[in-house]
Amino acid sequence: MPTPARLHVAHALHEVFGEGGRVPDIWDRELGEDAHLAQALLGLCLRRWGRLQAWVKPKLKDPDRGVPLGTRVSLAMGLAQLAWLPGVSDHAAVNEAVDLAADRDLGFLPHKGLVNALLRRAAKDRSALAAELEALPAALDRSPVAERALQAALAPHQTEGELEALWARLQQPPRPDFRLLKGEVPEGLVSVAGLPGCLCLAEGAPFPRPWLEASGGMVQDRSSQALLAYAWDRPVTRILDACAAPGGKTTTLALRHPGAKITALEVHPKRAARLRQTLEQRGLQAQVVEADAAQWLEVCGATFDLILLDAPCSGSGTLQKHPEWPWLKHEDLPRLTGLQRRLLAAAAQRLAPGGLLIYAVCSWLPEEGVSHLGWLEEAHPELRPAQVWPAAMGAARDTEREATALFRPHPLAWEGEGFQGFALQRS
Ligand SMILES: C[S@@+](CC[C@H](N)C(=O)[O-])C[C@H]1O[C@@H](n2cnc3c(N)ncnc32)[C@H](O)[C@@H]1O
Repeated sequence: MPTPARLHVAHALHEVFGEGGRVPDIWDRELGEDAHLAQALLGLCLRRWGRLQAWVKPKLKDPDRGVPLGTRVSLAMGLAQLAWLPGVSDHAAVNEAVDLAADRDLGFLPHKGLVNALLRRAAKDRSALAAELEALPAALDRSPVAERALQAALAPHQTEGELEALWARLQQPPRPDFRLLKGEVPEGLVSVAGLPGCLCLAEGAPFPRPWLEASGGMVQDRSSQALLAYAWDRPVTRILDACAAPGGKTTTLALRHPGAKITALEVHPKRAARLRQTLEQRGLQAQVVEADAAQWLEVCGATFDLILLDAPCSGSGTLQKHPEWPWLKHEDLPRLTGLQRRLLAAAAQRLAPGGLLIYAVCSWLPEEGVSHLGWLEEAHPELRPAQVWPAAMGAARDTEREATALFRPHPLAWEGEGFQGFALQRS
């Protein structure tokens, strides 16, 4: 019987490659100390799935026919442990993968012998196996949609030929960033240059769970922090956070504009509850409304000096944190781009004269970001670009200016998640 850690990894791989579903954020909660092994193994299988499959293929009796998902999962897990997890013994890597192959739900019993034979052979020289896998083209690990996301990330920066470097960066396990909310910077965290309040873990420091539980700080990627470091000195008394849960950006808005009345919208009831809980724990005031933002804005009758629309999106910019992203089906992209436009149109109507609209998505795909800009400006000539970010946060051509209205951090010069956004002011 495979250990719970390996069973969890196998379930997650079946979810991604069988169902096209995401790995849930809390997939490894019950694993205790074994969570480290499970995270490392799942990350390796997802990040090197293409190469692992390509290594197996020529060794099959009928390579073109392929093998069932249960066999592919068992082999990928066994090979990944043999090649890249030296702390796992040959015995554990091989036998548990063979047990997995024999599992009725997660494996494919008729291929138990095949899995056993291939892994035993591979275990005879683990460094040779690693070298063979590494020698296969890294492009095998990219799906067409991942390829498109990388090209979109690099396009505004005139950086042809850097696709492999970007892919290599995104294959590194992600490092969390934090935002200081109150008190002193705790031991083990260091400041990120140029972004006041942004912290990251010092080399070898433990994850600062007690500090987070005491609301001394929150996890927040540096791209979100840079986005919310917009330069704006006009009075802000009414703020709308149109897509607010779990509340990271609502928190920053509340701290940045302490006197303002904040309305925070969220359509999903569970996420709205989480948003309320976040704000309560941090002692922050905001009116949380559980509603579809577009519908609510149609009837609310209010206007706002600052609207943040951190819209639902494909999340292509988070593929370092979510290595399953390249393998998801992304069939809902047209629905998402339609929703983004519906939300933008509704938000634009509710911007007070002189007010600022910030639109952002954690995605590089142009159809989720900059492509909305021309459409919106045409429909709303009273909106004009607001240069609220330092030019370095924009594209290559922005660097001749001092500031930019387009937020597109360089994916190689900037360690944060992939983000794009724009800022518009109502005349
Ligand atoms: C990118 S997340 C927001 C993250 C949040 N701003 C933060 O920094 O913590 C987008 C959120 O919008 C919510 N959402 C999706 N469609 C919505 C709609 N039509 N109206 C309001 N919220 C929506 C999603 O449930 C999700 O919580």
